[in-house]
Amino acid sequence: GAPVEVDISKLEPGQLIRVEWRGKPVWVVLRPDSVLQEMKANEDKLKDPQSSEVDQQPEYAKNEFRSVKPELFVAVGLCTHLGCSPTYLPGSFGEQVEGVNYGFFCPCHGSKFDMAGRVYKDVPAPLNLVIPPYHFKDDTTILVG
Ligand code: FES
Repeated sequence: GAPVEVDISKLEPGQLIRVEWRGKPVWVVLRPDSVLQEMKANEDKLKDPQSSEVDQQPEYAKNEFRSVKPELFVAVGLCTHLGCSPTYLPGSFGEQVEGVNYGFFCPCHGSKFDMAGRVYKDVPAPLNLVIPPYHFKDDTTILVG
């Protein structure tokens, strides 16, 4: 299928927008700097903080933030356990998962993921969330697929 174009010009820090790509939900989140710092500080709670699993992200997203640009997070919003769609918990809403302000929580069996889609230890999901292929068409537009 054709790539899905996403306008990110109106994204606010911390905001998540959903688009559909190949029948799957894809999340696009603008991560504030505080979130990037929090992600680094909490790596010891994660199963695979270095994203060593080869098929979970494109080569160009195999870095500490699992993204092309640090501030923009793009991921397939499906839990790697049995495929439910995890809930976004933005810190500004005052919710916390394991003392972490921002992340994703899967309501089906309790898996937790950080703001790079990296799975926490001691939850049913085995792998980090999938990062789809995407690139920047210009500063305010990405193409997913
Ligand atoms: Fe997400 Fe089971 S489907 S924890």
